[in-house]
Amino acid sequence: MQLVDKFYRKFEYLRLSITDECNFKCNYCLPDGYQRTHQKQFLSQNEIQNLITAFAELGTSKVRITGGEPSLRRDFSGIIEQVSNTPGIKKVATTTNGFNLSKHAVDWYQAGLNTINVSVDSLDANTFNIITGKNIFHKVMEGVEACVKAGFEQVKVNSVLMKGLNDNDLNTFLSWIKTQPIQLRFIELMQTDDNNDFFNRYHLSGETIKQALLDQHWQQKPRVVNDGPAEVFSHPDYQGEIGLIMPYSKDFCDNCNRLRVSAVGRLHLCLFGEEGVDLRHLLQDSKDKAELKSTILSALKEKKSSHFLDLGLTGGTPHLASIGG
Ligand code: GTP
Ligand code: 5AD
Ligand code: SF4
Repeated sequence: MQLVDKFYRKFEYLRLSITDECNFKCNYCLPDGYQRTHQKQFLSQNEIQNLITAFAELGTSKVRITGGEPSLRRDFSGIIEQVSNTPGIKKVATTTNGFNLSKHAVDWYQAGLNTINVSVDSLDANTFNIITGKNIFHKVMEGVEACVKAGFEQVKVNSVLMKGLNDNDLNTFLSWIKTQPIQLRFIELMQTDDNNDFFNRYHLSGETIKQALLDQHWQQKPRVVNDGPAEVFSHPDYQGEIGLIMPYSKDFCDNCNRLRVSAVGRLHLCLFGEEGVDLRHLLQDSKDKAELKSTILSALKEKKSSHFLDLGLTGGTPHLASIGG
């Protein structure tokens, strides 16, 4: 049995959140910082092992460990190692705000991490500080350099471009990747349940960014099997590439290739607008594996073709820190 939905999309990619906590205050995500309202118990290593084993047996080959900020967990390296040693898992990735990167990039690489995505919303230290609430731009950039040196298969840098905030950074970003083997991804700001006013004020359409790239002779690369929703562009004069993530473009969901499990063990079929299916009671004992697998398979039958068709253009997702982005 494999993870295929009724629209023939294959799901070999799992995004596993291991914590909701984050130590940044990105203005589009957690402007007031992480609020610890009640003590949440995040998945233990044992629960994670049972979960990943079941997904791997259903054909999952890539796991992205997300958060919140995943590296805030003390057992982060242990989790990387455990996931990467699970039979069937060929690729382990993570997405980080870069806080612990300069110190730990090499440890994570040695633990089995293959690829890494780092959020850097501006190459100007002051703007970075304004957006993230953290005055550590230089430390994060040292971390990105450490990743390039450590030998990761791929290093991606995520930037959410926003009108009047950091959209002027576009050309600085482009000059930077002239000599850096990095895939720089521009992410269109997404509306969430709690960022409506912010969204209305700062949202910059992905099409505007795409046009700017085409004007500068960037060329869209043909899609290859298992590519996710990002559109990728290259340019002969640049060592790096650009990925564009435009969740409001019309065919975005056709290429959906990922499922999500939250840090408290709920399976989410989409980032937008559904509350998820609880798996946690089936993660306590490896003997429940068959039931766990059949629960995942039957949940997948409900996956919709597109979040647009269900929700229209607007949000309906909690902030991304709580669902693993
Ligand atoms: P790779 O393709 O493996 O590099 O992963 P990714 O681009 O999905 O990973 P990353 O965690 O860096 O996510 C970048 C941005 O894409 C985040 O803002 C995510 O929330 C967004 N994103 C990832 N998957 C989806 C999706 O299925 N739907 C939508 N709307 N956005 C997504
Ligand atoms: N819209 C777009 N991207 C977002 N991210 C977090 N919240 C949003 C949002 N509302 C991005 C972060 C990080 C990635 C995991 O998700 O910048 O790079
Ligand atoms: Fe933290 Fe990422 Fe949200 Fe920024 S976008 S507050 S780094 S979870």
